[in-house]
Amino acid sequence: MTVSSEDELAALKEIGRIVADTLAAMGRAIEPGMTTLELDQFGRRLMESAGARPAPELAYDFPGATCISVNEEIAHGIPGSRQIRPGDLVNIDVSAEKGGYFADTGASFAVPPVTRAVERLCRDGRRAMWAGLGQVGAGRPLAGIGQAVGAFARKNGYTLVRNLASHGVGHSLHEEPTEIATWPDPSERRIMADGMVFTVEPFLSLGAEIAEDGDDPWTLYSQPRALTVQYEHTVVATRNGPLILTMPGQPG
Ligand code: CO
Ligand code: CO
Repeated sequence: MTVSSEDELAALKEIGRIVADTLAAMGRAIEPGMTTLELDQFGRRLMESAGARPAPELAYDFPGATCISVNEEIAHGIPGSRQIRPGDLVNIDVSAEKGGYFADTGASFAVPPVTRAVERLCRDGRRAMWAGLGQVGAGRPLAGIGQAVGAFARKNGYTLVRNLASHGVGHSLHEEPTEIATWPDPSERRIMADGMVFTVEPFLSLGAEIAEDGDDPWTLYSQPRALTVQYEHTVVATRNGPLILTMPGQPG
């Protein structure tokens, strides 16, 4: 969507804050021995108590309130009986709706003990996302995002998953502009409109090039198998650059 009023912006900021706070709290709640379903139920309670509805099940009948993907899983993991173990890399993707407005955020969390390689991957995953966000602004080319993320990945020796794109969001979870590449895409010619709302969510990896299907209809796996992180914010393109909607507030 494209923001056209202060009321719309306020509604987006509210749902943005809710998903950001939920993601941060879920990240702090991760403990070895916990199942991904327990973690999901904790996130569901936070969203529902804030008057929000989890978007994956609302929009797609996804079997869970959030997507939780562990290690070889990189996206759309189904919360279930899998126990989180020491050393796991856990991606949590939180999206929700309130009052007809949607926001989407995600992050990968390393469960101690954390190797240097994973610590670096997580740090650089965030840096890759910020490299993309730094290109956001009204009137600027959408292609700048993928170019900046691609340059960062290349310089630092990482791969990018090239079939999981960023996307417009706001009136629904996925909407125009669809398929925003977080890798260099020479065919991308679109310009960011003033007030355009979308995500920036690169998947930075130690070797994966694509996400591939597995046995269930949802979970996506790294191919070739390699540790992969995703960090995601929902952002508004403004004349002053990016306005991030999914910043957490004070820890409650
Ligand atoms: Co997401
Ligand atoms: Co998204």
